[in-house]
Amino acid sequence: MIEIKNVRKSFQDLEVLKGISLAIEDREIYGIVGQSGAGKSTLLRCLNGLEPYDSGEITVDGALVNSRDKAALRQLQKRMGMIFQSFNLLERLDVYGNIALPMKFWGINTRSQESRDKVHELIRLVGLEDKVHAKPRELSGGQKQRVAIARALALDPPFLLCDEATSALDPEITKGILALLQKINREMGITIVVVTHQMEVVKQICSRVAFLYHGSVLAEGPPEEMFIKPAQKEIQSFLRDKSERLPKTGVNIQVFFVGESSKEPVITQMARELGKDFSICWAKLEDFRENVYGSLVLNVDEMDRETVCRFLTAKNVTWEVLE
Ligand SMILES: Nc1ncnc2c1ncn2[C@@H]1O[C@H](COP(=O)(O)OP(=O)(O)O)[C@@H](O)[C@H]1O
Ligand SMILES: [Mg+2]
Repeated sequence: MIEIKNVRKSFQDLEVLKGISLAIEDREIYGIVGQSGAGKSTLLRCLNGLEPYDSGEITVDGALVNSRDKAALRQLQKRMGMIFQSFNLLERLDVYGNIALPMKFWGINTRSQESRDKVHELIRLVGLEDKVHAKPRELSGGQKQRVAIARALALDPPFLLCDEATSALDPEITKGILALLQKINREMGITIVVVTHQMEVVKQICSRVAFLYHGSVLAEGPPEEMFIKPAQKEIQSFLRDKSERLPKTGVNIQVFFVGESSKEPVITQMARELGKDFSICWAKLEDFRENVYGSLVLNVDEMDRETVCRFLTAKNVTWEVLE
């Protein structure tokens, strides 16, 4: 497991990490999200020693990450596969050669039957059997990222770090890459740390997420909890989708349907029991891994505001007046 305790880091006068504390459990998919410039990449680079930190402590399976101990760092980096937005493949090597590269780097005989089996197994894992000898320029973005993932797994690392791995890909391709990461996590038991500014990524694959804001962790927890429970405005606007064009008159109330409450016909009950009219002016279903969470915005008369809010509370529904 990875433990980060009160880690600070500055570039000259700019403090980029302001006392970060997090614990990433074995075999989870952990997300670090936030806007551009929040310090996500810097934090990720501190985890595998690519970047030294100024104070605090990072341990990986109990061993301190210390950028001055070069031998230990090399061993650590071997145990942490990494993928990036820009794939970083070598143009002169084909798919096979790129995937075998870390083995070569570590002096492993890549011509042995064992190594060849390993590379072919990885190629199968990422679904590129028909591209074994293709050069990177002959591949789509999604295929390039698949090569990068296979390469990152070449040394059987227990950890995989992903820095904006899907940010350059379109939504359909992103889904495929996320499904592949989930498969790697489940079937191989690899702990995955996902750094991203894309909320969709977090919702779809992360079991827990830390929201990084100007170098500090504003909140941490399962993404669906941050989505529903009133947290800071910065997080809500990041995680939730809402309409730009809500009615200017009356009161807009956003209602969230989660778990058991999503099975009750609360809205029709409300209309019947209160004898009130209201309109549904926005609605969306959001995917959080295996679960679907719904939210909708009701527009009610100002004078019905209290009655409606009381009804929703009594029904155990999470709601919020949008000001
Ligand atoms: N090597 C560096 N030298 C100076 N400033 C840096 C360096 N790397 C990152 N920064 C600054 O640190 C801040 C956080 O950057 P980064 O960790 O890349 O954020 P994110 O990945 O969340 O977009 C930014 O203001 C960035 O300009
Ligand atoms: Mg970054």
